[in-house]
Amino acid sequence: MIGIIGAMDIEVESIKALLTDKKEEKISGVNFVSGKIADKDVVVAKCGVGKVFAALCAEAMILKFAPDMIINVGVAGCLDSSLKIGSIVIADSVVQHDMDISALGHPLGLLDGLDIVKIPADKEIYTALEKSVSELGLSYTVGTIASGDQFVADSGKKKFIIDNFDAKSCEMEGGAIGHVCYVNGVPFGILRAMSDGADDGASMDFPTFTRMAAENSTNVIKSFFTKL
Ligand code: ADE
Repeated sequence: MIGIIGAMDIEVESIKALLTDKKEEKISGVNFVSGKIADKDVVVAKCGVGKVFAALCAEAMILKFAPDMIINVGVAGCLDSSLKIGSIVIADSVVQHDMDISALGHPLGLLDGLDIVKIPADKEIYTALEKSVSELGLSYTVGTIASGDQFVADSGKKKFIIDNFDAKSCEMEGGAIGHVCYVNGVPFGILRAMSDGADDGASMDFPTFTRMAAENSTNVIKSFFTKL
C-alpha cells in the first residue's frame, strides 16, 4: 500500500481521480480514499494545512492502512535561486524551521527525544522520484525541505530558513509527516513544486501559480507509480 498525502484538494484531486475500485472512509476527521492505480494499492488523503493536521493524518493513515511508504505531495515556497516557479524540490531530509528550544542551549530545529534536527527521507523513494522528474524534463533539485506553521512571505524569514537549515523549499506539512513516519518506521518521501518565492511577492504568486505547480507535482507522482 502506498500512501499519498497533500494539504489541499488541488494537490490531491487528480491523484484521487486515477483510483479504481474506490473506497472512502473518514477517520479522525480526514477523508481517506483508497483503491488501485496501475495495479498498486494506494490510499490518498487531503490532510489540511499545517503540521498538526498533517501529523494526525499520517498517524491515522499508518494505523489504519499500514502503508509501505508515504509520499507527501504538493506545492511549496522556493528557497533556491537556481529554481523557478513550477520547478520541483525532492526532499532528502526534512526539518521543522519553527521548532526552537535554542534558549535551553539546543541547536535550532532539534527534535528533543529523537535528538536530530533533520529527518532523513527514504533514499530509494527520493531516487525514484528524481528519475520521474528528470524524465519529465522539469528542473529540480534534491535537498532539505523546511516546514513550519507559517506561510513564508517575507524575505527576512526566507533568509533565516536558508541560513539556519540550508533548505531548498519551505512548506507547512512535510516535517510533520516525516516526523510521524520516522517514529513509526515508515519510509517517506516529499515532492513539492514551487508555487512562489517565499518572499514579499509570495502572497500574489501563490494564488496565481498553485494550480500549475500542483499539476507538475501530480504528473511526477503519476510517472512514479509506473516505476514501482
Ligand atoms: N506553500 C506554498 N508556498 C509556501 C510558502 N511561501 N510558505 C509556506 N508554505 C508554502
